[in-house]
Amino acid sequence: MRLSTSSLVVLLALSAGADRTTEAGEASITDPNAECTPYYYAPVSDHSSDFPAIWQHPEEILSNDSEGQAKFDAMSASIPNIPPKGTLNGDFSGMNYPASDPDCWWTDSKCITPKLAGLQPDVANVPEPRTLGYGFDDGPNCSHNAFYAYLESRNQKATMFYIGSNVMDWPLEAQRGVADGHQICVHTWSHRYMTAATNVGAFAELWYTMKAIKLVCGVTPTCWRPPYGDVDDRIRYIATQLGLQTVIWKYDSNDWSVGTNGVTRQTVQDNYDHLINLAQNGTFDTVGAIILTHELNNYTMQTAMDNYDKLTEVFDNILPIAVALNNTTPYVEKNVTSPTFAEYTSGTTTTSSDSNADAAPASDPESGGESESARSSGANGKTSTASKGAASNSGEGSGQRAQGSSGARTRAVGLGGAGAGVALLLGGLVAGGMRVLFGV
Ligand SMILES: *[C@@H]1O[C@H](CO)[C@@H](O)[C@H](O)[C@H]1NC(C)=O
Ligand SMILES: *[C@@H]1O[C@H](CO)[C@@H](O)[C@H](O)[C@H]1NC(C)=O
Ligand SMILES: *[C@@H]1O[C@H](CO)[C@@H](O)[C@H](O)[C@H]1NC(C)=O
Ligand SMILES: *[C@@H]1O[C@H](CO)[C@@H](O)[C@H](O)[C@H]1NC(C)=O
Ligand SMILES: *[C@@H]1O[C@H](CO)[C@@H](O)[C@H](O)[C@H]1NC(C)=O
Ligand SMILES: *[C@@H]1O[C@H](CO)[C@@H](O)[C@H](O)[C@H]1NC(C)=O
Repeated sequence: MRLSTSSLVVLLALSAGADRTTEAGEASITDPNAECTPYYYAPVSDHSSDFPAIWQHPEEILSNDSEGQAKFDAMSASIPNIPPKGTLNGDFSGMNYPASDPDCWWTDSKCITPKLAGLQPDVANVPEPRTLGYGFDDGPNCSHNAFYAYLESRNQKATMFYIGSNVMDWPLEAQRGVADGHQICVHTWSHRYMTAATNVGAFAELWYTMKAIKLVCGVTPTCWRPPYGDVDDRIRYIATQLGLQTVIWKYDSNDWSVGTNGVTRQTVQDNYDHLINLAQNGTFDTVGAIILTHELNNYTMQTAMDNYDKLTEVFDNILPIAVALNNTTPYVEKNVTSPTFAEYTSGTTTTSSDSNADAAPASDPESGGESESARSSGANGKTSTASKGAASNSGEGSGQRAQGSSGARTRAVGLGGAGAGVALLLGGLVAGGMRVLFGV
């Protein structure tokens, strides 16, 4: 996709009304075209050289990333000697893989119990009975405001599996995920088939996504979901060394694939209805379920909304994966906490903040303060710790924003002056197109 300067100007004009420098400002946009118009965001732009190219599979650790290199060197010798499989785009034809499934390759056999000693089983369902582990892949999608607002109106939190390239393209949308109290997990940098990657390539897909989420949202995830479910014991080992638990699914809505392989909207509705029927006939009375759904486009998000009430009727609880697992510290940063299962199900869907967290928004008068904390308060009036984390992180960029002062001026400066800003804008537009091709 090529864009002339004049079309960029037109695109920017579409979003002229909103403050596109803060999470709250961005979250207030309701026109999907305006939401998906790229914007300049200094904290990302200033750090773009610390990250691989957007939507490209990183073959290597960046040459001056000594922290990443040290991390990889520490695990490299012990990574199991399993050769990469097929191609990054998922062509496994011509592979001669033993029927015994020696690598616990999910794509081959739906294997979730590693054969390699020392690896934890994948999370493919949730232990609590009559409970749905609620999650969405491929975000943050630029036009997710209607969907996130719907979840907010129902005081419903979920696990969001974010793609690193989308986080860099749509940082304020990623911040909304945290501000709204959702759990954030890693869904790789460029959304390729991970078992095809080299050791260092697989490491980089995970590492730079963790770094992007930390930069933008202020938290470092401890969970990830392989695109297409494509994981084996080599990839699980690399993820484990990075502190990432593998989360998969047992039920698939196939919402991402409408229009391909004969999948229609009716197929997807049938998949939702199947899960609903199973919940009604007692299938989840001892162990709960996880279904694969996507924050990919208007259709996948709208379908999630259209089925939400039906799901609440047949499941006793619908919760983020971390909550379903009683994992109260879902991030490396232990000061950002998540409610226990018992707390969540009795109405406390976010936890109260500690005293350090309370101080954070004061350092960022632009994005802290009343509007944001009011907006991110749940129906029960409890304020999310996570939202403070996001606010305090966006404070990193407050210096740059203070110089730019008004949103409009910051945008104009970024576009006119910084090549990185324009690259970021184009990356966002290219990304929008590429998701259509890549699916899941
Ligand atoms: C890596 O090098 C680029 C320039 O090539 C520089 O902009 C960036 O700040 C460096 N990053 C680190 C972590 O040193
Ligand atoms: C529920 O329905 C499914 C599919 O029809 C069936 O396989 C399963 O055995 C049923 N479970 C119970 C507990 O009745
Ligand atoms: C977000 O969803 C819109 C449709 O609502 C779609 O056109 C766009 O490609 C998606 N963007 C990304 C980055 O996935
Ligand atoms: C999908 O698009 C329709 C029509 O523009 C809009 O009314 C609806 O809110 C959108 N849904 C989501 C989830 O964005
Ligand atoms: C979560 O903790 C509660 C006690 O608060 C316990 O009853 C429940 O079994 C735990 N669930 C899991 C999955 O650990
Ligand atoms: C949590 O601790 C980190 C340092 O590990 C700090 O940067 C961050 O601001 C703290 N977040 C909150 C919400 O207190």
